[in-house]
Amino acid sequence: MRPIITVEGLNKTYASGHCALRDINLAIKPGEILALLGPNGAGKTTLISIVCGIVNPSSGRVRVDGHDIQRDYRAARACIGLVPQELSTDAFESVLAAVRFSRGLFGRAPNSAFLEKLLRQLSLWEKRDSRIMDLSGGMKRRLLIAKALSHEPRILFLDEPTAGVDVALRQDMWQMVQELRQQGVTIILTTHYIEEAEAMADRIGVINRGELILVEDKSALMEQLGTRQLRLTLQQPLEQLPPNLSGEGLSLSEDGQELVYTFDAQHETGIAQLLRRLDEAGVDFKNLHSKQSSLEEIFVDLVKEAR
Ligand SMILES: Nc1ncnc2c1ncn2[C@@H]1O[C@H](COP(=O)(O)OP(=O)(O)OP(=O)(O)O)[C@@H](O)[C@H]1O
Ligand SMILES: [Mg+2]
Repeated sequence: MRPIITVEGLNKTYASGHCALRDINLAIKPGEILALLGPNGAGKTTLISIVCGIVNPSSGRVRVDGHDIQRDYRAARACIGLVPQELSTDAFESVLAAVRFSRGLFGRAPNSAFLEKLLRQLSLWEKRDSRIMDLSGGMKRRLLIAKALSHEPRILFLDEPTAGVDVALRQDMWQMVQELRQQGVTIILTTHYIEEAEAMADRIGVINRGELILVEDKSALMEQLGTRQLRLTLQQPLEQLPPNLSGEGLSLSEDGQELVYTFDAQHETGIAQLLRRLDEAGVDFKNLHSKQSSLEEIFVDLVKEAR
């Protein structure tokens, strides 16, 4: 399938001399949810701003649905809804007026029914006549989402959409993202809540110091880089590992109460052997549980390695 967004050889050095992006190449498939993860200052917002045509690249090229973002800005931008990271708190105008204006900006015919549905979905309908400056922080963020969706874009960028949003509304927002995806909207989001990426994304991209160090299907990433642990609580604590048990991946907890076996997806077969060897050594255990490393642990490892 033809990508809906292609980024080729993208570099950005700000006027300050700071190099924020280095040789970024990325193809985004229509209908996918891509989560961009990375530490503060990694370059996520810079990348999004370039793809949305707000910041000019130093070199490289971006095409959105076949349109070059620089040469064919209006056509490219019309496909995109952007929820920026920074709140702009300019306005005296009302919520409804702001959303209506955003829709008009992209040349869409008025559609009151659609805008009402949108504001209701974001729990903003009751506030439609309030001035933006009188909204709470979380409401302002929801308004940014409403504005971004007002022209029914096919691509939605969410730059930390749930920062400062309460837990219940965050759940609603996840729900909304899933619904948009079912309608075929392509979604690129950044977040520091890794469980959010884990719950929502099809693919994960990791940016560190201006470099896209990895883009991978979420499930493949967790399969390949995730480790699993099997913890066995012993009947009798051990002072040290019996000699026939010492080997790769096995360790004894500090209090001697638990055996911890760490393995990756390729070494699952080791478990049967381990249990056999425990039996031979006369080591009994009263319970066992397993745990898979989370995306968060994988992410922390990746970023640490790249330093
Ligand atoms: N207008 C600017 N002028 C100069 N430097 C900038 C500008 N905007 C961003 N930068 C620098 O570029 C780097 C990347 O910033 P960016 O906002 O893209 O990071 P980010 O990954 O979005 O971080 P965060 O998670 O904190 O939002 C940072 O070092 C930042 O200071
Ligand atoms: Mg940012």
